[in-house]
Amino acid sequence: MSDDIKKGLAGVMVDETAVSKVNPETNSLIYRGYAVQDLCQHCSFEEVAYLMWNGELPDRAQLDAFTRQERGQRGLSDDLMQVIRRFPKSAHPMDTVRTGVSFLGMEDQDTWNNDPADNYRKSVAILAKTPTIVAADYRIRKGEEPIAPRDDLSFAENFFHMCFGKVPDPEIVKSFDVSLILYAEHSFNASTFTARVIASTLSDIYGAVVGAIAALKGPLHGGANEAVMHTLLEIGEPEKAQAWIDDAIDNKKLVMGFGHRVYKSGDSRVPTMTRAYHDVARHTGGEKWVEISRVLEKTFIERKGIHPNLDFPTGPAYYLMGFDIDLFTPIFVMSRITGWTAHVIEQLADNKLIRPLSAYTGVAQRAVPAIGER
Ligand code: COA
Repeated sequence: MSDDIKKGLAGVMVDETAVSKVNPETNSLIYRGYAVQDLCQHCSFEEVAYLMWNGELPDRAQLDAFTRQERGQRGLSDDLMQVIRRFPKSAHPMDTVRTGVSFLGMEDQDTWNNDPADNYRKSVAILAKTPTIVAADYRIRKGEEPIAPRDDLSFAENFFHMCFGKVPDPEIVKSFDVSLILYAEHSFNASTFTARVIASTLSDIYGAVVGAIAALKGPLHGGANEAVMHTLLEIGEPEKAQAWIDDAIDNKKLVMGFGHRVYKSGDSRVPTMTRAYHDVARHTGGEKWVEISRVLEKTFIERKGIHPNLDFPTGPAYYLMGFDIDLFTPIFVMSRITGWTAHVIEQLADNKLIRPLSAYTGVAQRAVPAIGER
């Protein structure tokens, strides 16, 4: 293969961005200049969402106005609720949320308007309504009635309320909020790049988010948080962890939740999320999963030099919070909407159609034979 070809676009710098910076040398990640760890410590997910779109953290009045705007749009139309009720019960929630967001695009009278102010309005609407889609579908699939959103609860609290009919202790809510902040943005990852490619054609922001959801579904990207929990359940008990991971390494198996295209010596988000996971485990009596995770992490780093990524602590944390495994990636969607849409707005501010080249390796040009001569 020619040296000009950068398979998977690995190492290729395709554009500028002011949204976030991933720095593999220092294991750091900043959103609009702020380190994610600091944002997790000092801010709510709503403040981070505002930051993503506006470039600055909100003051009190701005946060109040933003909160009112988001909370006021959490409800879904009767038409969309009816569609959700008719989704196949066997469908993966990533497929249902993808279809739900697509429906939101059809309902918006101004879908084609790519004015930045209108795309900001749509971004807040998608952020507000997507958890309602995910939670309604979750309950209907289980044969339960959906629970209407509440406008007196935070983004994180309201999601628990819509899924389970109650809000857990503040420690659990905080850990969930931290996971949302950490999942919000990560520069030109596969789903964000998908969203930017779609936006670059001057298609609409709903379509860009729908495409991004499809990209995030894959197990090499967002789907890894679900796969991590399946691995932990397969291992089952801490005593079995060492043999399992040794066997996986000896047999060159892909172990989900490890490795990263950009970070090669540790994912900057992992320490913060690991603390949140341990908090949840202490609170819910889930310490055995922490023990299993420790064995996998230690062994994989020692024997392979490969570190865990954010999905490694997030998967079991969501499990211990009570979410079904197939809901993990839709939760990732709920958060990453902020990053995707910020990138779409940025792409459109200085747009150039994204259209790379390919090296043809097929048959050389030839004449079309008559049908009797083929
Ligand atoms: N388990 C086992 N081996 C792994 C691994 C993992 N999770 N991640 C990387 N490796 C190995 C590769 O097999 C490869 O070995 P080789 O050189 O002997 O062929 C080497 O490490 C380099 O990895 P590579 O696949 O070239 O890195 P990449 O940048 O293309 O891939 C990922 C990055 C994320 C796709 C990859 O690490 C992976 O598949 N991880 C598991 C899925 C996951 O957790 N995804 C979430 C990402 S946030």
